[in-house]
Amino acid sequence: MKEKLEQIKAEAAAQIQASDIPEKLNDVRVKFLGKKGELTAVLKGMKDVDPKDRPKIGQMVNDTRAEIEALLEETRIKMERVIRERKMKEEVIDVTLPSRKNVMGHRHPNTIALEEVERIFVGMGYEVVEGPEVEYDEYNFEKLNIPADHPAKDEQDTFYINKDIVLRTQTSPVQARVMEQGKLPIRMIAPGRVFRSDEVDATHSPSFHQIEGLVIDKNISFADLKGTLEVFAKELFGPETKTKFRPHHFPFTEPSAEVDVSCFKCGGKGCRFCKGSGWIEILGCGMVHPHVLEMCGIDPEEYGGFAFGVGLERIALLKYEIDDMRLLYENDVRFLKQF
Ligand code: DAH
Repeated sequence: MKEKLEQIKAEAAAQIQASDIPEKLNDVRVKFLGKKGELTAVLKGMKDVDPKDRPKIGQMVNDTRAEIEALLEETRIKMERVIRERKMKEEVIDVTLPSRKNVMGHRHPNTIALEEVERIFVGMGYEVVEGPEVEYDEYNFEKLNIPADHPAKDEQDTFYINKDIVLRTQTSPVQARVMEQGKLPIRMIAPGRVFRSDEVDATHSPSFHQIEGLVIDKNISFADLKGTLEVFAKELFGPETKTKFRPHHFPFTEPSAEVDVSCFKCGGKGCRFCKGSGWIEILGCGMVHPHVLEMCGIDPEEYGGFAFGVGLERIALLKYEIDDMRLLYENDVRFLKQF
């Protein structure tokens, strides 16, 4: 009997040794200690043992049971530790890793400049309107007094969809669209994208933005135009800013002018920024041509007004002292976040 028990113990120990997962360990427990297990079978065989030997044998069975149980428990604890350690290694959390920063977007310099211009004109009672970027040739040219054979059309004769439709070369067609609606008086600005087949360089892009302005009312004079643009320039570039109106020609205004502002960098003395002249050109403007008013259904005897067109990129470049227009379109966050 003693040998039998030793044998059971040795077998159990071997199988415990061979177990690599808790489930197998449990199988061993059932096999040797369970109700139908081998040790239980030995106990059941006690009836055949001489009664006087029974206590001794019983003790031996219990000892064997205890030993197997102890071995099972010890192995289980070891096994769990190994499993836990392996898991710790696999699921490493490196608390020293720098956290991922949340990179926030930022308004584009064009947007900041546009909002500034809108704020100034809305403050003077202007409405902000929009027109289509894909425009009829008729609105982009004809209704603005630029007939098919006009030389002014040449430099803007650009991206045609078909012979009647063009990617607008200026925001001026919005003037015609608003005047045609017939609601007078008009005080509006119309910002938006325009297109020309210009080569890309530091001051040109085939796609850029303009802000058109239009005022139509009774008794509007060139003095109103001058006063308005003077206020605009002072608001935008500072109260010291002076303006200068130079005669110019645009087909849809008469008279027409280009407006320069005194260089806000050197105050007019002349510097690299204003190329030594002390002045910086910022926009084109003029009194709306009577023929344009007529074409849009407005009686030039009764109503008149002025218009202007500003290049948005030009304002952004000047205001933020950016020396290359291409930077505005590259979307490099390191550049954009400076404004
Ligand atoms: N549309 C002109 C251009 O793109 C700019 C302009 C000049 C607009 C005079 C105007 C204006 O409204 O009166 O060059």
